[in-house]
Amino acid sequence: MIQKKSISILSRKASYDIWIGENLLKEKHKYLELNLAKKKIGVITDKNVHTCQYPKLLDQISDLRIIPHLLLIEPGETAKSWNNLEKVLQWLSDLEFDRSDYVIAFGGGVVGDLVSLAASLFRRGINLIQVPTTLLSQVDSSVGGKTAVNNGTAKNSIGTFYHPKAVFCDITFLSTLSQRNFFAGYAEVLKMALVFDKDFYQFLIDNQNLIVLKEKSVLIHLINKSLELKSKIVEIDETEQGDRALLNFGHTFGHALESYFGYSEKLLHGEAVSLGMVLAARFSKEEGYLSESKQEDIKEHLNDMKLPTDITQIHNSKLDLLKLIKVIKQDKKVVGDNINLILLKDIGNGFIERNVPFQKLEKFLQIHLS
Ligand SMILES: NC(=O)c1ccc[n+]([C@@H]2O[C@H](COP(=O)([O-])OP(=O)(O)OC[C@H]3O[C@@H](n4cnc5c(N)ncnc54)[C@H](O)[C@@H]3O)[C@@H](O)[C@H]2O)c1
Repeated sequence: MIQKKSISILSRKASYDIWIGENLLKEKHKYLELNLAKKKIGVITDKNVHTCQYPKLLDQISDLRIIPHLLLIEPGETAKSWNNLEKVLQWLSDLEFDRSDYVIAFGGGVVGDLVSLAASLFRRGINLIQVPTTLLSQVDSSVGGKTAVNNGTAKNSIGTFYHPKAVFCDITFLSTLSQRNFFAGYAEVLKMALVFDKDFYQFLIDNQNLIVLKEKSVLIHLINKSLELKSKIVEIDETEQGDRALLNFGHTFGHALESYFGYSEKLLHGEAVSLGMVLAARFSKEEGYLSESKQEDIKEHLNDMKLPTDITQIHNSKLDLLKLIKVIKQDKKVVGDNINLILLKDIGNGFIERNVPFQKLEKFLQIHLS
């Protein structure tokens, strides 16, 4: 029997429960009955999740006599678009949702980011519940209130901060997730450990085989721990004025690569983060912060977890560095001719290196990416 855990998040704007376990929507009938009765409910999901998991969602809420409205979007990162944002808003408008009604984001980080942005905008904020169905969204994106769509090559450049009313991280929904997407999600777990918590890193190394086997209690522990770490940082810096930026470890390089490859199946978000973390660890080493052996350990663990650690595993011809650098310049951590980078002093000890000259970064990328 899996122990169910809950974390609550307390921010200036909101306080909400995050439930982690199995068959949670069934477990939490009382909560749902209390809040959802006599409300319109809109479930927004992508076509893959609809095929694989929507019947299970309906089954879990079958006793509640809820008949949700359903909107399907195409799967994949390109769905985080202006067009889909408009589509969701128009759908809510056509169905005459009001602010007391509920939208449920049922899917991975793409559905979560898109739907939460729409929820924040519709009538200046409609009730939102997150039911994440990928490892990445269960350990990271469903919590913390960042919403987004991409604007051309500029990843997550349109967004708001908007919190859900509750988050249900139900590991039973992970049963149909592909291996590739499972490991991509794991990159964000490792990120939390590398930046904040040496002991958690050691737990991940010690339990590597059980993670690969998706052993339930290990999965619950790593979701719980990741969200605890995330909640703590969101509570102290909700709108990323300071330390919340640490969560972007590996993301400056990662986002640029993701955008470079057109947000395609060639490189998933979590895989881009994996490559980005290897580069950020390397940069940390070259700046004299992280030891060579620890940098190698990180790389080796990512390899063991079937994540890419070298760009040649993704792409075997030369990268157009000018194009890549142009994308990096759109990052929100660029300040004039400098950039703030998230680096590691040690495993479990991330920090923000402010005002790194862009030229230095360009030189680094020339050496390590071409
Ligand atoms: N808001 C935040 O704080 C935050 C944090 C990290 C990442 N993100 C964002 O999250 C996104 C990546 O999320 P993701 O990795 O979940 O990708 P995703 O939402 O694209 O899901 C990955 C794939 O898995 C499929 N899928 C989802 N659940 C499934 C299931 N249970 N069974 C079978 N297939 C399933 C989807 O259809 C999709 O094809 C990126 O856009 C990234 O920017 C946001």
